[in-house]
Amino acid sequence: MTGDEKKQLLQFLDLASDFLGTGYRGEREEYHIDDDRPRDVAGSDSLEAIAEEVRACQACKLCQGRHKAVPGEGVSQPLVMVIGEGPGADEDSTGRPFVGRAGQLLDKMLAAINLDRNTNCFIANVVKCRPPNNRDPEQDEIAACAPFLQRQLALLKPRAILTVGRVPTQALLGTAEGISRLRGRFFEYQGIPLLPTYHPSALLRDEGLKRPAWEDLKQLRAFLNSPDKDGRIPPHASGAVGSVSGVGTYSGTSSIGNTDPLEEQN
Ligand code: URA
Repeated sequence: MTGDEKKQLLQFLDLASDFLGTGYRGEREEYHIDDDRPRDVAGSDSLEAIAEEVRACQACKLCQGRHKAVPGEGVSQPLVMVIGEGPGADEDSTGRPFVGRAGQLLDKMLAAINLDRNTNCFIANVVKCRPPNNRDPEQDEIAACAPFLQRQLALLKPRAILTVGRVPTQALLGTAEGISRLRGRFFEYQGIPLLPTYHPSALLRDEGLKRPAWEDLKQLRAFLNSPDKDGRIPPHASGAVGSVSGVGTYSGTSSIGNTDPLEEQN
């Protein structure tokens, strides 16, 4: 029922009450019903609803070539939301983000700083359907998909965003600056700290990028270990969903050490 309909019903009930009571229409204040205002987007939304809409979406041309849309996956109260570019072939065939070679490296990068899509991260992309031949997503495709990312962010409320690669970083920050200049610096996106780093595919192509990527990851962990705006240090491994046994002793940058675990990955 809309606010106007509620107002009419109340006026009718008043009229009936006046009629049954005194038989005369009484003086009344005007009703002000303000529940026609747009609701808090996250209030009635859910990750499942977004995923369903993503799977049915035809808002841009990428829907024509997709096998499976890739809404994203992870925990519902993550410490970190990882945002990539768009699904590749493996993601398009499984409907899951970052499951190919780059995805396996991403999982190792995250694990090196005690992050994991099963306990304290959510992983998604700026476009949810695979661009043909893995080309960069185009502006209109990113724009058409943006409301899904916005809704996911509004629900997830991560402590930080990690953008991997040029495309998601430029898209979220609205800049044309290159990733090598943007990486390793904290920005803000809608009030959420955002750290860009290299895409794992870039690390697979160029071993020399692993060390700076590791520096970025250590920065992210140091940030996550610092008190939040309420002065609390959130549980390291599991975000807001409780602790996970065996990883609760993680104690920040120093325990990562200076040896670069990404050097081992290929
Ligand atoms: N690369 C991305 O940017 N996203 C994926 O989901 C997979 C590969």
